[in-house]
Amino acid sequence: VVLVVDFGAQYAQLIARRVREARVYSEIVPSTMPVAEMLAKNPKAIILSGGPSSVYAEGAPRLDRAIFEAGVPVFGMCYGFQLMATTLGGTVDNTGAREYGRTGLHVSKAGSTLFEGTPVEQSVWMSHGDACSAAPEGFSVTASTDVVPVAAFENDEKKLYGVQYHPEVLHSTHGQQILEHFLYRGAGIEPSWTTGNVIEEQVAAIRAQVGDKRAICGLSGGVDSAVAAALVQKAIGSQLTCVYVDHGLMRKGETEQVEKDFVAATGANLKVVDAQERFLDALAGVSDPETKRKIIGREFIRVFEQAQLEILQEEGPEVAFLVQGTLYPDIVESGGGTGTANIKSHHNVGGLPDDIEFQLVEPLRQLFKDEVRMVGQELGLPDEIVQRQPFPGPGLGIRIVGEVTKDRLDLLREADAIAREELTAAGLDREIWQCPVVLLADVRSVGVQGDGRTYGHPIVLRPVSSEDAMTADWSRLPYEVLAKISTRITNEVADVNRVVLDVTSKPPGTIEWE
Ligand code: XMP
Repeated sequence: VVLVVDFGAQYAQLIARRVREARVYSEIVPSTMPVAEMLAKNPKAIILSGGPSSVYAEGAPRLDRAIFEAGVPVFGMCYGFQLMATTLGGTVDNTGAREYGRTGLHVSKAGSTLFEGTPVEQSVWMSHGDACSAAPEGFSVTASTDVVPVAAFENDEKKLYGVQYHPEVLHSTHGQQILEHFLYRGAGIEPSWTTGNVIEEQVAAIRAQVGDKRAICGLSGGVDSAVAAALVQKAIGSQLTCVYVDHGLMRKGETEQVEKDFVAATGANLKVVDAQERFLDALAGVSDPETKRKIIGREFIRVFEQAQLEILQEEGPEVAFLVQGTLYPDIVESGGGTGTANIKSHHNVGGLPDDIEFQLVEPLRQLFKDEVRMVGQELGLPDEIVQRQPFPGPGLGIRIVGEVTKDRLDLLREADAIAREELTAAGLDREIWQCPVVLLADVRSVGVQGDGRTYGHPIVLRPVSSEDAMTADWSRLPYEVLAKISTRITNEVADVNRVVLDVTSKPPGTIEWE
């Protein structure tokens, strides 16, 4: 493992992903973890991430110098670089010499371990206030900028390396190469982390964990639950039962995708619960978004538990495990975790024994989203599932502004299918993060169609680009694509006589309308 020490900025996750792109397994640890504990993980190398602060700031995170003396190769980036410099006796001045953004880097030792084979002049991404003016003893300076005399250094004998900039961001044109040089040349690591290995490792781990008991897995139609289920299916076959609750709020074709394509690709044991009427009944007369969400969440749990209960009552070994598609970023964001959590099934349904406890199987807890997609692909899941864009759990229920009814759902499903079809045909699926299609059911607009006046509903297109859904911008879609979607929706979907485009970023708008 390569450890990425997180100094509290957003960079650590990106660095960990880049290391894995170099086919080396990486994990993130907080900078507050004692060095002895880090070393106990037997890291092949350690990377010190950037951070928010100046090394001179009050309360700025520090690092025990022991980390540089353990014989483990270390690579400091940005804040990590400055910390390395000051800890080892170099000089970092609080000069006010700031550099932010794209900067020219002058490589002075072209044949160095990190810079070998990269241009003497390269573009890098900087973000710092302090500047290193003298490298620690034993280090040679390998690059500078117009502002910073020491922008990179290395001590090959001790296997210590540092750069003032952020090699992990794409604006640093040779960043990935430099990171790979550290991993392969500096630390002597063989690149061997592949999705094939992940699958093999996880299959063995799942078999060991589950033994001859049974497991259940809820499928949502999304990428994570589908890949988690496929992986567990590969490991334990018929000991797994998947449950899919058809709440009638899915988009066109999605339920069939799970029922047919998922089952065909995996051979999984699938229990589909048709709960459409139950959800419609529960949602009748409700327009408030939060109330809708609560109702959908509540009904979902009830139906899922009922299905669970039925599985528990089937003949067969004990059902002791629940599969979940938790991803690595969830684990990092919730402060680590050891994988031993037990969750208690909610028992707000009469009939579930009080003491059922499932142990969690979380085969994706080491993976980033793009890796999950690769694993899914390798497991033979269809692209329509693996490359799926995010879709909210409450489904179309929160894309109808107003009361949710069967007719409105059918109408929205048609409009949504047209938008998706045209975006795919235009090759825009990878460019946009997602494109909610929203029915303003409580709004009516006047139109003229054929030879008469119509009084129908507007449909909103909400195409957004985003990295993580926390912030988003509206996508600048080509006019021709918008025109085609608008023409088709107003022609093909009865009762819709207007298509409007949402041009709001997040914030202030959220991605979904409800
Ligand atoms: P907002 O609307 O908050 O959405 O900007 C951010 C992202 O989350 C998705 N979303 C949900 N996903 N259950 C989910 O699983 C939900 O209740 C839910 N609400 C919003 C939304 O599609 C977007 O990707």
